[in-house]
This record gives sequence, C-alpha cells and structure tokens, in this order.
Amino acid sequence: MNTDPIGIFDSGVGGTSIWKEIHRLLPLENTIYLADSANAPYGSKSKEHIIDLSIKNTELLLEKNCKLIVVACNTATTNAIDYLRQTYSVPFIGIEPAIKPAALHTKTQTIGILATKGTLSSALFSKTSTLFTSNIKVIEQIGDGIVELIESGKLYTDEMISLLKLYLSPMLDANIDYLVLGCTHYPYLIPLLLDLLPSHVKIIDSGKAVARQTKVVLEEHLLMNLQNSKSNIQFYSNGDPGIMQSLLGKRYKVEYLKF
Ligand code: DGL
Repeated sequence: MNTDPIGIFDSGVGGTSIWKEIHRLLPLENTIYLADSANAPYGSKSKEHIIDLSIKNTELLLEKNCKLIVVACNTATTNAIDYLRQTYSVPFIGIEPAIKPAALHTKTQTIGILATKGTLSSALFSKTSTLFTSNIKVIEQIGDGIVELIESGKLYTDEMISLLKLYLSPMLDANIDYLVLGCTHYPYLIPLLLDLLPSHVKIIDSGKAVARQTKVVLEEHLLMNLQNSKSNIQFYSNGDPGIMQSLLGKRYKVEYLKF
C-alpha cells in the first residue's frame, strides 16, 4: 500500500491519452503528468538528446516523490527507457507501437504504422518489428508535422486532414487492414481517421495495454494505493497550458511549470 503518485511524462500533450486510460483503470491512484511541450517534438531529436530530456523529466517526477514512472511517449521509450531503468530504482512502464496484435490478426498480410522518426529508427522498434512481422508487409510512415499541429492547438483542422490523407494514401494503396498508432499524440486523431479510413481498416493504439501493465507492476511491487479517497491529479506543462486544458476539459486544472 503506497499513496505516493504515479509520474507520467511525454514530450507534450499526447501522453494525456495514456493518462486517461490509467486513470480509468486505477481511479484511486494519485497522478502527476508532465508535458515537456517546450521541447516538443522529441521525434526529430537525437537519441542522446531524447535521453537527456527523459532524465530531466524523470528527476522532476522523483523530486515529487513518484513511486513509478510511465514514459507516455513512444519516442522516449524506444530511445531512453533502457537508460532510465539502469539508472533509477523506481519501476518504469514504457509504450511501444502495438505491432504484435496487428501482425497476428491481419488478413491482408499488410499493416501500416504511423510514428515519429525517432521511434521508427530506434533499435528497440527494429527488434520488435523483426520479431513479429517477418511474414507480413509493414508500411512505415513518419508522421512529420502531426505532433507540431497538435501542440499548437490545430488538431481538427484542414491542415491536419491534408497531412493525414498524404500519409494514409500509400498505406491504403498497399491494402492495409490494420493501422498502428505509434505515438501517444495520435489517439486524438481517431475521429479524423475514422472519417478517412475505409471501415475494414482497424485502428490500434497501446493506451489500454499500458494501463493494464501499470496495474500489474504496481501490484507486483506492492505499490497500489488502496485508500478510498478522491485521487489527487496534477497536470503541468512548460508550454501553453491552454492547449492541454482544451484536450482535458475544464474538470482538470493544467498549471504552467518551468522545467
Ligand atoms: N507523444 C510522443 C510519442 O509518443 C510524441 C513524440 C514527439 O514529440 O515527436 O512518440
């Protein structure tokens, strides 16, 4: 039994899609979310730079007494989680593109993956991809510009629709039947994607799996908060807090914090 908060960080607002799943599954847990929007996007940065930013975010969450850290960013997970696990003693939960379920269930033997350059070029992604996709065709697409549009509050815009059409076109030409969302910002695109994709193409993201894994690890380490009181939820952004506020709604308060 441990009432300390779960720490969650992302390069920006996208990881709130993961926070929502964690909060849904573990409503008693206190949580602290850090959006490093001042440094977004991570996807075009070097591995060393992504590790440095991940260290900065982790150390702030540890100062705030977090008992477990969720790296709610595919790019930071695939580039920095090994380093974080070797360096700090708290448990870390990471997120990777959900290639496995897509590869197992595809009927057209062709799946699409939309992710950042940092994720698609990482050694960890390449290892997972090789493991599960040796018999199928994988259309990888870097989502250049998508994170930037979301971070600047331009989610449901014509500009976004044009980008998505451009990125989906080669995948649809190749006859994918699964689209894997390999970036935690992308679940916010689902309403647009449902309009743009034919109905037989299924969209997969890893949010629920990350929440389930968080619960398993809390239980294993005897870290669950069993106190039946209202959870304390804190959201911090070092960018414009208004962008995150609009994604979360008025129920939660987003504060500006310099870090
Ligand atoms: N949400 C991050 C991810 O999952 C976005 C990466 C970025 O900032 O480029 O990859």
